[in-house]
Amino acid sequence: MSVKLCVVSNAGGSGKTTLCVHLAYLMSKRGFSVALIDLDPQGSLSLFCGLTPPHPEKTTAAVLRDNFNGEWPLVKCWVEHTDKVEVCQGGLILTQTTQEIASHARGSYLLADRLQDYPLLHNFIIFDCPATLGPLPLIALAASTHILVPVQLEPKSIQGSAKLLEWLYLYKKQLRLKPEPELIGFIPNQYDAKRAAQRQLLESLPEKLAQINIKCFPAIRDSAEFVNASAQGLPLPLYRPSHPASRDLKKIADELSKLIAKK
Ligand SMILES: Nc1ncnc2c1ncn2[C@@H]1O[C@H](COP(=O)(O)OP(=O)(O)OP(=O)(O)O)[C@@H](O)[C@H]1O
Ligand SMILES: [Mg+2]
Repeated sequence: MSVKLCVVSNAGGSGKTTLCVHLAYLMSKRGFSVALIDLDPQGSLSLFCGLTPPHPEKTTAAVLRDNFNGEWPLVKCWVEHTDKVEVCQGGLILTQTTQEIASHARGSYLLADRLQDYPLLHNFIIFDCPATLGPLPLIALAASTHILVPVQLEPKSIQGSAKLLEWLYLYKKQLRLKPEPELIGFIPNQYDAKRAAQRQLLESLPEKLAQINIKCFPAIRDSAEFVNASAQGLPLPLYRPSHPASRDLKKIADELSKLIAKK
């Protein structure tokens, strides 16, 4: 069975798309096949994967329509480096999907239904959610087996996470998901060790999260090279193979593989 990973946070720019892209690449290097599903009208996953913007009929929006015929519009990415990562692209058309979900009898379960009726055989299916906690993250939640939350080390983002947790607990309950997707942890992102306020937040975060039974993954450092790599449509290990920030991501991929293997 695939791991269906919902990468979600209610903060814009917290690193959701960056995390999706890097986990996809690192898992592919461990021999796993990965489908990245873009649920964001911004469609930044296409940019980060070096893909041209799709035709609206070749997006996740088309998959979610009632007339979907099971032909997932998957496009391979980083083909010179891996044959194991495919992307179902997003884009502006997903703003229409938001309304369609709201008026559909199976609304929140549309993506879960598609994956049940027309399964993807990848080892990992990763959902890149938009920052607004509306219908699109909800269909990802209803389709997922696991949840990961990137968070910036700023008081505003950390406080905002409490709202995200409320949202997760409320909808996990309301959607009556069986089994419930498991929140595997928070990932502090854009950590700048030179900033005392961030160091303090990073010190206190694991304990605060442990009190509510949530794991805190090792932090991903702040580096302008992430922006440069994404502008080239590449994950950092391909753009700057020996960059130290790649080690942060590798640690997360290692822990994630272990957690998932245990289950
Ligand atoms: N560790 C990092 N260091 C420096 N820049 C980073 C880091 N992680 C992500 N970024 C950059 O921060 C910006 C926001 O990241 P990203 O797009 O992944 O966030 P997001 O949560 O998907 O945003 P949105 O809510 O808009 O979808 C991007 O330009 C990305 O390249
Ligand atoms: Mg994004």
